[in-house]
Amino acid sequence: MCSCTKCVFACVFACLLCAALAAGQSASLGLGRAASPEEVESWGTIVGPDGQGLPPGSATAAEGRSLYDRRCAVCHGPTGREGPDDRLAGGQGLLATDEARKTVGSYWPTATTLWDYVYRAMPFNQPGSLSTDEVYAAVAYVLYLNDIVGEQEPVDAASLLAIAMPNRDGFVSDPRPDIGSSAVAATTTAQVRVAGGAALGEVAAFTTPWGEPDLQGVWSYATITPLQRSTDLTDRSQLTEEEVAAYNQASAVRATSERRSDLSAERDLALAYNQVWWDRGQATDRTSLIIDPSNGRLPPLTPDARERQAANQAYRVDHAYDSWNDRPLQERCMTYQRVPPVPSGYSNTYQIFQSPGYVAILNEMIHDVRVVPVDGREPVHGRIQQWNGDSRGHWDGATLVVETRNYRDTTTWRGFSGSRHLRAVERFTRLDNDEIDYRYTIYDDTTYTRPFTVQLPLVSPPGYVVYEYACHEGNYAMTNVLSGARAQEKTATDEGSR
Ligand code: HEC
Repeated sequence: MCSCTKCVFACVFACLLCAALAAGQSASLGLGRAASPEEVESWGTIVGPDGQGLPPGSATAAEGRSLYDRRCAVCHGPTGREGPDDRLAGGQGLLATDEARKTVGSYWPTATTLWDYVYRAMPFNQPGSLSTDEVYAAVAYVLYLNDIVGEQEPVDAASLLAIAMPNRDGFVSDPRPDIGSSAVAATTTAQVRVAGGAALGEVAAFTTPWGEPDLQGVWSYATITPLQRSTDLTDRSQLTEEEVAAYNQASAVRATSERRSDLSAERDLALAYNQVWWDRGQATDRTSLIIDPSNGRLPPLTPDARERQAANQAYRVDHAYDSWNDRPLQERCMTYQRVPPVPSGYSNTYQIFQSPGYVAILNEMIHDVRVVPVDGREPVHGRIQQWNGDSRGHWDGATLVVETRNYRDTTTWRGFSGSRHLRAVERFTRLDNDEIDYRYTIYDDTTYTRPFTVQLPLVSPPGYVVYEYACHEGNYAMTNVLSGARAQEKTATDEGSR
């Protein structure tokens, strides 16, 4: 057998090569294999100019209006002309002028490809989440905003192909032999996957093969709804539809106001991320994530906890940079959103796995996997404390109840205080293919005058993935932060003695 790393690589590579050659794949390079028909099908159809692969379905602009208002207007504006993102309407006839604006009406040569684009790429923050009928409705409405179809005109596969787009003659064709309609036709043979439809049947029962409720999958608890209700909303727990839309609009504008072309180099650097990296989610229709107490606010601290917090703050004024132990847990790459979590700007994800006796909950930020026994075993001894506590679960009917204790005194959350006496009880109830009712209650009578309950959205939009969270702050930043603080102290002492 191989014993050194180099040999292991050599063996593995040789085996891969053998396997590939044996399978007769890619004789020229000996790498890769042909995609199976199932894989090709799962990627869905690319609908080209010839409209091949457009699925059955039909909708009018009148039917598309409310979908557009809810799912598109936030980024493209109420009439498709306002932004903040790409203009979808207007600008017809101006392409050759100084006021050129590329929109669906002024620029796109075919309407079939509009269907394709919206189906696969929009909404930008939830691509793939629209059903085929919803795509017909959105497309009908965008065409209507451009005066290309009437409000009541049904839009379907045949009519999309028949539509003569205003800029249909504005393109030159590509003469290369491998580009062109034959290449397009080859990719359109697979059937369009009806979003959500097929998957729903497969997991209809939401039960694991060994008979427990099935919570597995990738779930997002991203939301811009704040933990605590803003004080100006006093006794209102719900937002109106218009308010939800306004919050989402404001959040989208904040994200896209980072247009690189409009930024100075300094401002660009200071922003650190552009909108591709944020995944803050949308507003729920509630004014706070806290659902109990009814004022949506954290309960008052106990007098003891107030003293503790004041002492901590006083200490931090002079000792924030004494040692790595004084730096925040996020900066030290220890743990981020905590257990149970409070959402932040991105990586608001759970990936849940189950096996008989265990539920494992992965929180990629920062590589925290909770392996929760659901077999009735005792919690660990109270003297053993951990950043994210120790979790034990049980099934209450269809609900997974997870109780976590044994936190450290130094574990704090983004929104509330922790202590070793804190106990968290989470409840996960699967509602649907793509939704879990998720809420947790925090008990800690050494810190809060009463318990409080937080409800987070927990949804699984099609195609939602967990991206790697690579925390590198500790590599160089920690020594740099601390040596920087020492240098500042030295300057201060030198100046003082001058
Ligand atoms: C969160 C913001 C957001 C939402 C919501 C959204 N879009 Fe977009 N849309 C964008 C961005 C950003 C682009 C540009 C993407 C690019 O260039 O890669 C875009 C591009 C487009 C384009 C192509 C425009 C062009 O001429 O190139 C169309 C068409 C479109 N969106 C339609 C829709 C429809 C229909 C909806 C609703 C179902 C929708 N969008 C929802 C952000 C959004």
